[in-house]
This record gives sequence, C-alpha cells and structure tokens, in this order.
Amino acid sequence: MACVSFGVEKLIFRQLFDSVSSTYTYIVADPKGHEACLIDPVIDHVPAYVQWIDECGLRLVYAIDTHTHADHVTGAGRLRSLTDCATAIGAESPAECATVKICDGETIRIGSLHLRAIHTPGHTDDSYSFLLPDRVFTGDTLLIRGSGRTDFQNGDAYQAYDSLFNKLLRLPDPTMVYPAHDYRGWTMSTIGEERQHNPRLQVRSPKEYATLMASIKLPTPKLMDIAIPANWACGEPKITG
Ligand SMILES: [Fe+2]
Repeated sequence: MACVSFGVEKLIFRQLFDSVSSTYTYIVADPKGHEACLIDPVIDHVPAYVQWIDECGLRLVYAIDTHTHADHVTGAGRLRSLTDCATAIGAESPAECATVKICDGETIRIGSLHLRAIHTPGHTDDSYSFLLPDRVFTGDTLLIRGSGRTDFQNGDAYQAYDSLFNKLLRLPDPTMVYPAHDYRGWTMSTIGEERQHNPRLQVRSPKEYATLMASIKLPTPKLMDIAIPANWACGEPKITG
C-alpha cells in the first residue's frame, strides 16, 4: 500500500480542492480493507478521483454528499456509473436517485472505518455532518471562522444554531474540523478553535444567531439554477427531448 496518510496506518486521508467553487472534497479509506469513500465529490474531477483511487489499489464504496450543493454539480452519480459505488445523501434530500438516504445517527461503513451521520440542518434541511473518532466533516454547517448561509434551500437560522451549539460544539475540543468550503485557503480547524474564535459562534441565543444571519447579504451562487436540479439527479440529469 503506497498511499499512506501522515504515516498513520488506521486511515488514508486526502483533502482535494476545486478552485472554481472553493469546494473541499475528501477521500477517506481503510488501508487494511482497501475500501474508500469520497465526501463531496465535484463532477469535473471525477476522472482524477478514479485514477487516484485506482493507483492506490483502493475500491470506492461510497460517494457521499453532505447536502444538496448550490455551487457545483456533484460527482456522485458519475462515480457510481464508473465504479459501481453507492451514493449517499440525507433522507431530507429530494434526490430519489441516491442509493442510500442517510438518517441521523446512522453509520456508513468504509471497511473497518465507521462514519457516523449527524443531521445538522440549517444551511439546508438535508445538511449532514460525518464523524470519525478524531475528525468531523461539517459540510457547510460549520466553516472555518464562518458558517453556512441560511437564506435559501429550506435554510433556517434557528435550526443552524441548534446544529452548531447542540450537536457540533458538543464534540470534544480536539476534534478536527474539515468543512466543504474555504474561501481564504484555510484547510482545517478544530472544534475548540472554532468555539473560541469563530465570530458566528459568539452569540448567546438562537435569536441573536438568527439576527446575525439575517444581517448578512450574500449574492446568489452563480451556478445555482443549474447545480440544484442537477444534484437532485445525482449530478446526472436525464437529457429529454
Ligand atoms: Fe452549500
């Protein structure tokens, strides 16, 4: 096995970046069983993912989306077509094409690795975080010194507050945080660091959080009208007519 990560035998881990949408995609694999999953794959990079997984002697078993993305098209459906992997997204997503609809507390098994799904709605109603013992993939729920917008896709600032304060911030402080995006080049954080320094987490009540989120005016994502319907079809909309 040539593709070890940080010299740690228990986990193969890679963080990949899509510079168009500033999306992070993660590869998590079990070096013993050679099973791998991709979290938040971007369709344009599917050939590169498949090549890397092949070169490292791994077998892709899952392509997981943390939520219905509005800024890029998922590579999940194409990866399933090419590798026969399963695709997974939250049960609240309208994506009927998904192989697996995840619910809160369920576990996705990647060989001997157990990825626990935590429903963290607020950015969207189908937002999930995925937890390993030492790290959490937070999608757009918790970003580095930020948090996901709550003004579209069934977003709800009160739900986001609950997801942040009553779910993610209850994880141990050293838990590493790997978000779905960063726009300044930061690659990871920890729960403790975000608790202390994330300006969105310095509020004292759900109402204060909702007021803060309502004050943020963001432009509509450029690809939204294309990405959302495409992602409801696992990134592979049927061409009709
Ligand atoms: Fe998002």
